[in-house]
Amino acid sequence: AKEKPWGGRFELSTDKLAEEFNASIHFDKNLYCYDIEGSITHAKMLAKQGIIEQRECELIIKGLKQVKDEIDKGEFVFETEDEDIHMAVEKRLSKIIGPVAGKLHTARSRNDQVATDFRLYVRDQIDNIKKGILDLLGVIIAKAEDNIDLIMPGYTHLQTAQPILFSHWIMAYFHMLYRDYTRFDDCRKRLNYSPLGSGALAGTTFPIDRDFTARELGFTAPTENSIDSVSDRDFALEFMSAAAICQMHLSRWAEELIIFSSSEFKFIELSDDFCTGSSIMPQKKNPDMAELIRGKTGRVYGNLISLLTTMKGLPLAYNKDMQEDKEPVFDTVNTLLTSLRIFAPMISKVTLNKEKMYRSAQLGYSTATDYADYLVTKGVPFRDAHHIVGETVAYAIKAGKDLSELTIEEFKQFTDLVNIDIYDTVTVESCIKKRNSFGGTSYDAVKVQLENAKRLLKAL
Ligand code: ARG
Repeated sequence: AKEKPWGGRFELSTDKLAEEFNASIHFDKNLYCYDIEGSITHAKMLAKQGIIEQRECELIIKGLKQVKDEIDKGEFVFETEDEDIHMAVEKRLSKIIGPVAGKLHTARSRNDQVATDFRLYVRDQIDNIKKGILDLLGVIIAKAEDNIDLIMPGYTHLQTAQPILFSHWIMAYFHMLYRDYTRFDDCRKRLNYSPLGSGALAGTTFPIDRDFTARELGFTAPTENSIDSVSDRDFALEFMSAAAICQMHLSRWAEELIIFSSSEFKFIELSDDFCTGSSIMPQKKNPDMAELIRGKTGRVYGNLISLLTTMKGLPLAYNKDMQEDKEPVFDTVNTLLTSLRIFAPMISKVTLNKEKMYRSAQLGYSTATDYADYLVTKGVPFRDAHHIVGETVAYAIKAGKDLSELTIEEFKQFTDLVNIDIYDTVTVESCIKKRNSFGGTSYDAVKVQLENAKRLLKAL
């Protein structure tokens, strides 16, 4: 392996299979622009500190820009024998500018280099994901405002519970995704420290300026401990944790879309461009995108567990195991970003079957709680009221009637306290109107919620 950049002390060349096994180039080539950005900054710093000459720095930067250009244009040939993106870029650089290229790696190790590249990559992807979430939050608000007083059934245990406003239902997802946004933001804050200049693990003998490189690369400051810097992958784990939670939210929502679009529910119809057909059943329109978003949640969880497991037994500092950090993160980014980018138009184009939602809200004795509350206002303790209404509902089920269809005599079989005004109480409109507690489903409460949500969005 004499021909390798690290080959000085080697006699045998690397075994072919071992070389392939060792190589990360086929996936870490993803990091090329961050690798080159980091190298340009490192070179500038070396020149500023008098570690290399200004002229050498200019040559290195010019060469690195050419390498980037070649990769951008797809002209660059990635080779397994180059091992990883860091060595591939450096090798090409030395082909372009000659031996001066060898000065770039002064006061640096691949260990602090890869940690820097990876943080820059994750930071950029966090920004892309934040943008994706923001777009979806906007779609949610628009849908809620356009359908602010549409009534639908609310569920617990997937059994009819109480009537709710559609706008209230969809705003539940606003709050989940808003928390996701802030989680990514928090993760970004902790990530944003520069490991560059940590060397292999112990720092360097050269008079480097880590504040300069940190600042140039948009980091808040350099990291404080070189050993931790090259062995820490918390930023990737935090990122994948936030992604797993976010994907879980999308998955739950996808599940509701699937149920609500079934022929039994028919509350909504997904737009054709987010569905597919069946190869045998001509009538079918399947919610594949929603199903895949639900299905891919498994891999996003798996990616998190994969890296947690990789990290759990590692001694300080860098170990090659850590090369296994990249594929799970790349896959997570790809899955979550695509899910978000599909979700926003899928929601904005969904058709609401308002009639069906409204009719369903009347079913399943959804107003029974309100009848109990009514008896409470007449002085009955809630537990007793619950019992009386339970008996009334059992009777109504047998009689095949909704509460609103019972005669006053039928009501009175179970309590004398009921009056003709019961018929105003057991309407879905009244149920909703009366749930005017802060955060509740009344029209007025949802209006307040929407105003607050818009304020939250503006402040992001
Ligand atoms: N390809 C390696 C990785 O992704 C780069 C760092 C290698 N460092 C080393 N000392 N072998 O982790």
